[in-house]
Amino acid sequence: MGLRGILLQQQVLLGAIILAAIAAAAEPNPSCSTKCGSLQILYPFGTSDGCYLDPSFLITCNDTFEKPTPFLGTGNLEVLNLSFDGELRVSTSIARDCPNEPGYNENNSNSWLSGLDNFPISHKRNKFTAVGCDTLAMINGTVAEKTYATGCLSLCSRFESVVNGSCNGIGCCQTSIPQGMTDSFVLVTSLANYSAVGKFNPCGFSFIVEEKAFNFSSLDLINMQGRETVPVVLDWAVGNDTCKDAQEQNLTSYACKAVQSECYDSPNRRGYLCNCSSGYEGNPYLVDGCNDVNECETSKPCNMICTNNLGSFKCDCPKGYEGDGMKNGTGCHLIVTNSRNLALELGIGISLSLLLLGGFWIYWGLKRRNLNKLKEKLFQQNGGLMLQQQLSNHTGSIEPTKIFSIEELKRATNNYNESRIIGQGGNGTVYKGVLPGNKVVAIKRSKGFDHSQAKQFINE
Ligand SMILES: *[C@@H]1O[C@H](CO)[C@@H](O)[C@H](O)[C@H]1NC(C)=O
Ligand SMILES: *[C@@H]1O[C@H](CO)[C@@H](O)[C@H](O)[C@H]1NC(C)=O
Ligand SMILES: *[C@@H]1O[C@H](CO)[C@@H](O)[C@H](O)[C@H]1NC(C)=O
Ligand SMILES: *[C@@H]1O[C@H](CO)[C@@H](O)[C@H](O)[C@H]1NC(C)=O
Ligand SMILES: *[C@@H]1O[C@H](CO)[C@@H](O)[C@H](O)[C@H]1NC(C)=O
Ligand SMILES: *[C@@H]1O[C@H](CO)[C@@H](O)[C@H](O)[C@H]1NC(C)=O
Ligand SMILES: *[C@@H]1O[C@H](CO)[C@@H](O)[C@H](O)[C@H]1NC(C)=O
Ligand SMILES: *[C@@H]1O[C@H](CO)[C@@H](O)[C@H](O)[C@H]1NC(C)=O
Ligand SMILES: *[C@@H]1O[C@H](CO)[C@@H](O)[C@H](O)[C@H]1NC(C)=O
Ligand SMILES: *[C@@H]1O[C@H](CO)[C@@H](O)[C@H](O)[C@H]1NC(C)=O
Ligand SMILES: *[C@@H]1O[C@H](CO)[C@@H](O)[C@H](O)[C@H]1NC(C)=O
Repeated sequence: MGLRGILLQQQVLLGAIILAAIAAAAEPNPSCSTKCGSLQILYPFGTSDGCYLDPSFLITCNDTFEKPTPFLGTGNLEVLNLSFDGELRVSTSIARDCPNEPGYNENNSNSWLSGLDNFPISHKRNKFTAVGCDTLAMINGTVAEKTYATGCLSLCSRFESVVNGSCNGIGCCQTSIPQGMTDSFVLVTSLANYSAVGKFNPCGFSFIVEEKAFNFSSLDLINMQGRETVPVVLDWAVGNDTCKDAQEQNLTSYACKAVQSECYDSPNRRGYLCNCSSGYEGNPYLVDGCNDVNECETSKPCNMICTNNLGSFKCDCPKGYEGDGMKNGTGCHLIVTNSRNLALELGIGISLSLLLLGGFWIYWGLKRRNLNKLKEKLFQQNGGLMLQQQLSNHTGSIEPTKIFSIEELKRATNNYNESRIIGQGGNGTVYKGVLPGNKVVAIKRSKGFDHSQAKQFINE
């Protein structure tokens, strides 16, 4: 490492120390409780001073109930869920209008949601809903500091005419709510005092509800099947600024503290949210909040060899395999490259030609052996042995006797040329032959062969 490298490292170190110092100021106290009942309390939310990012993220944990119950701020909205994706689920009461019931409380026919300046009601997740067969429901509230009001009407004449799972105005009606609603007042009443439908539907109900959390059933007409509260999703975010403005204005109060974190503008409201960078998980609002995800262990994305890196992972194939190694990709396959192909083909070619050659060799060998056998057989048949015997007895004669091969005879008679014929007999033709050394001889070529005459022929 050069001097430059050391200097650079020192600078980075210095930077890290400064960053840590800044962060320490905003970090929540380690003694902060992170649970209230079954709710996991995630920073920037907190239950006491020094535990939240700013007072709007206060969650009050009330121990006087059967089990500790979290409430939003200092109000009476119970918090059901918190998540880093900018959603906050609270429990709200259902407004009911039951004028024919003994002990009827008119105050129950309405329901307030207020003080939500920092957490508007999600217009994407919720629907204003009314249930009943003689029901008129209304909602009003504040949207961007202006008054907003709407409502819906639900009627039906018979219990059987309603359709389960459908809020089409028969027994149940639904309408959207506007974006950025920060308080709401829900009121439910009847058109005809339930006089015609009271037998099967003595009450009307109305509420804002998370659309996914409510599926209308005809049984709801009786008494909401005993349900008194429904979940509502609120949108939370940090401040009222965009990421860009927040970073430029005041880095000290900028909430995305983790080094491996990213900022994004809330898609539903003003303000921004933080997210751990891809490949990391945890709490992006804490300096050391985002931790590397060991993808090799958690999602097992690789086919064969997996290497976890900070913020990523790498899939490899062992030697002799090819592919990207990913289970959702091409995986790993045995390499069948061109050179290997060539070698294989060459190998096959060579062995094939060797086989052929061997075959030919064996064929020729057999053929030659058969030919020699045949020759030997014919030699014997034609009295060759007898001739050989006689010749060996003639060792004393002046002129040594010799058995000529067909080739020698052919050469001597110029391939039995007609011009060499010197006589034709009953059982053969006599040719004039010239042996090497210009010795002239007579050669008799027998026609066919009569075994009975073999002896005579040999003597000749
Ligand atoms: C807890 O709830 C009870 C009953 O609603 C209330 O009287 C009390 O003041 C609450 N405690 C706190 C700390 O909010
Ligand atoms: C809300 O929290 C409850 C338990 O506290 C859990 O069962 C439920 O799945 C959560 N809902 C969502 C949408 O996260
Ligand atoms: C509705 O019915 C209740 C009880 O029967 C009665 O007291 C009330 O006056 C009726 N209201 C109207 C508007 O008819
Ligand atoms: C309804 O609420 C008002 C104001 O809060 C109160 O004066 C009245 O007594 C309540 N009525 C009943 C029946 O509880
Ligand atoms: C909604 O209506 C109620 C009852 O009429 C009223 O008291 C309240 O002020 C209205 N709210 C808004 C925001 O207009
Ligand atoms: C609502 O309930 C009906 C029947 O009661 C069912 O067919 C439908 O799938 C349900 N829808 C949802 C979203 O759960
Ligand atoms: C709606 O579903 C409930 C059971 O979930 C059933 O008892 C009821 O009869 C159904 N109502 C209609 C109108 O189909
Ligand atoms: C954001 O804006 C709303 C409405 O203008 C205001 O009530 C709230 O206090 C602001 N929040 C912050 C953190 O500035
Ligand atoms: C930046 O934010 C911090 C903490 O919220 C605050 O103390 C400081 O005054 C702010 N600085 C400026 C220039 O706004
Ligand atoms: C936040 O990060 C997670 C994991 O990297 C990713 O799945 C999600 O889409 C991100 N959300 C946004 C809004 O960028
Ligand atoms: C496979 O999954 C990874 C994340 O696990 C993703 O980045 C990649 O795009 C996916 N590839 C295909 C071909 O689906």
